[in-house]
Amino acid sequence: MTSMFRATSWAFKGLQCSSVLLSARMSSKTADRSRPLAGKVAVVTGSTSGIGFAIARRLAQDGAHVVVSSRKQQNVDQALAALQGEGLSMSGTVCHVGKAEDRDRLVATALRHSGNVDFLVCVAGVNPSVGSTLGSSEEVWDKILNVNVKAPALLLSQLLPHMENRGGSSVVLVSSIGAYLPEARLGAYGVSKAAILGLTKTLSLELAPKDIRVNCLVPGVIDTAFSKMLFEDPDFWNHMKGRHGIQRVGQPEDCSGLVSFLCSPDASYITGESIVVAGFSPRL
Ligand SMILES: NC(=O)c1ccc[n+]([C@@H]2O[C@H](COP(=O)([O-])OP(=O)(O)OC[C@H]3O[C@@H](n4cnc5c(N)ncnc54)[C@H](OP(=O)(O)O)[C@@H]3O)[C@@H](O)[C@H]2O)c1
Repeated sequence: MTSMFRATSWAFKGLQCSSVLLSARMSSKTADRSRPLAGKVAVVTGSTSGIGFAIARRLAQDGAHVVVSSRKQQNVDQALAALQGEGLSMSGTVCHVGKAEDRDRLVATALRHSGNVDFLVCVAGVNPSVGSTLGSSEEVWDKILNVNVKAPALLLSQLLPHMENRGGSSVVLVSSIGAYLPEARLGAYGVSKAAILGLTKTLSLELAPKDIRVNCLVPGVIDTAFSKMLFEDPDFWNHMKGRHGIQRVGQPEDCSGLVSFLCSPDASYITGESIVVAGFSPRL
């Protein structure tokens, strides 16, 4: 009994000691509050338009060097020109996240900046067909699961040696409100986005000992090319508005501040969390 108390007391002292170290580390890290991500390197997939582009811009505005990527060279060039034109520190490359050789190139491009990576934000996602879950062909299932679920895990496993134990590395995955409130006509896509919630939890446990936090952005209906078909459909939008507290379509910038926060030292005790950005909450 006595030895148990002694052990507990030592453990508590250890905790107190590490919390002192932690607060010292945090205050030094947050010294420049206008650029909380200064000196960090971020890789953002699917970042040449829409939500990914807004996230890439915000992370760079907050001080990070950001590596943008997507499938088409022309889109990468345009995004780089726009963001470098704003004076932001950027590089970029073509990367279809479902292709192994493209992921290799993205990793190599990211490492060229400083030899390490601090943040990975996996935005790239696809929905090749509108239809029911059971109506989805094997080809559709393969594409959705490869790009939306497998690719973030495979890319992260490649980046892991360059992200672990660096003091504050962070991964943000991107799910969808459809994971919580499935739409019958977005069947397989909704399943893939629910899987990302599970992936977030699993990875957060697996990577905590390596000092990497893993969280998830869960967007509602956001005004991008991807969702045009949905929010321009009056039936769908009226149905969604019935659920909404805030009666407007979201903008990509509504998502980007959250991702910057999740990467920042202010979120250093947050992992395994999924945060909805939808103008309402589907959860208690
Ligand atoms: N918009 C919404 O309402 C909404 C809601 C919930 C969740 N989401 C999720 O948010 C993410 C981004 O959507 P968004 O609305 O911003 O779409 P978006 O405006 O259409 O942008 C998609 C971006 O991803 C790139 N991309 C597409 N497929 C890719 C692939 N296989 N590999 C790499 N890059 C790829 C596109 O560029 P290229 O064409 O050059 O590849 C583009 O830069 C997706 O994961 C989506 O599921 C969106």
